Amino acid sequence: MDRIRITGGKRLNGSIPIAGAKNATLPLMIASLLTDQTLVLDNVPRLADVGLLQRILGNHGVDIMVSGKRPGETQYDGQTLHISAANIVDTTAPYELVSRMRASFWVIAPLLARMGEARVSMPGGCAIGTRPVDLLIMALDNLGAEIEIDRGYVVARARNGLKGGKISFPKVTVGGTHTAVMAASIASGTTVIENAAREPEIGDVADCLNKMGARISGAGSSRIVIEGVSKLGGARHRVLPDRIETGTYAMAVAMAGGEVVLENARPELLQAAFDVLGQAGVEITPTNAGVRVARNGAGLAPVQVTTSPFPGFPTDLQAQLMALMTRAKGISHITETIFENRFMHVQELVRLGARITLNGERATIEGVETLKGAPVMATDLRASVSLVIAALAAEGETIVNRVYHLDRGFERLEDKLAGCGAAIERLSG
Ligand code: EPU
Repeated sequence: MDRIRITGGKRLNGSIPIAGAKNATLPLMIASLLTDQTLVLDNVPRLADVGLLQRILGNHGVDIMVSGKRPGETQYDGQTLHISAANIVDTTAPYELVSRMRASFWVIAPLLARMGEARVSMPGGCAIGTRPVDLLIMALDNLGAEIEIDRGYVVARARNGLKGGKISFPKVTVGGTHTAVMAASIASGTTVIENAAREPEIGDVADCLNKMGARISGAGSSRIVIEGVSKLGGARHRVLPDRIETGTYAMAVAMAGGEVVLENARPELLQAAFDVLGQAGVEITPTNAGVRVARNGAGLAPVQVTTSPFPGFPTDLQAQLMALMTRAKGISHITETIFENRFMHVQELVRLGARITLNGERATIEGVETLKGAPVMATDLRASVSLVIAALAAEGETIVNRVYHLDRGFERLEDKLAGCGAAIERLSG
């Protein structure tokens, strides 16, 4: 298993290219199941989760061709996928695959809508909490699906197709909204989704579906209206930049000090996080190339933050912000309201010398003068990267174990940071 070695204390200067968003790419790839024509996706990041979803879709009979590198492209340019679900050979998604990546459960919506049936394993728990799928099932039920749970599988049927309906989510859910939008796109009649997730990735997927011939309006707001069409066609779509990768590198620069341009970043996708960094004393400046992040000399001020659905502060940046606040001058509070157990990074940050106490969903972080390098490991993607951020400012050497978590969601993280002057390298094996 690969590990990452970081020697703290180096400032970051230069530029970092931001890749296409993982959390848009995954539902976009899944949306390819809605049509027998080819969906072309540009700016797809090179991530382990993308590779795994390729395998999962392959199991359903989907053909995926990856375009070769074109002249003039760098290693950081995203890939282009040509995805064809002309022939769906299997409507079952087995436990062995779904349990490795929760988002793959979402295949249930396009399989059911197009094929009239789907049998998808319940994903089970994961390192950040229980993460049930009851609201995704509720959404499909409201569109007329017959649903039963059979030996760990959700079996959904709609012999005569899905019918538009009203879906009112009692809680904001990204996956619930994605599945409802996909299923309703080729249901008969109109669907109205209330209390929809407003994450930018919902809007990106809806844009792509509209290019494929869907009639979706209001995506990005909390009320989405979908007029079902009988069939969707092919399209070409460029994945929007990853706002979580953007925020993560912004916090890395804030931690290490220096000045870095995050190329292709779109500041409006993470205003809440940039506002918090501003309060902490970090300079954020939108530029033509992306966003410039700088912290020169001055220390970090503590912040009070509560995670919430978009446009609030994202849970996917909570661990990274906590790492940053371990060095603030004063006491910060971070409250996690989306996932009940997303604090697995706390004990690892404490190993580096952080002072953090937990009380239910609220963490109190007392900033310290110095962190000290140590071997650490993490159990999920965002927790792992928070350890990298802490290590950038820790005295001496930190080894981050279980790097496969990082590879699920960050493309060439060590190259991007090393390119800006960090002392970071991957140790293979
Ligand atoms: N929930 C339910 N029932 C459901 C679905 C969700 O109670 O049927 C609850 C969840 O347990 C959670 C809350 O609703 O408490 C929100 O969950 P949501 O459905 O929004 O999360 P998700 O769709 O499973 C996506 C991202 C996550 C991100 C969350 C929240 C993808 C592939 N995943 O997950 O990303 O944290 O939205 O923004 O888009 C990550 O990238 O590291 C990651 C975990």
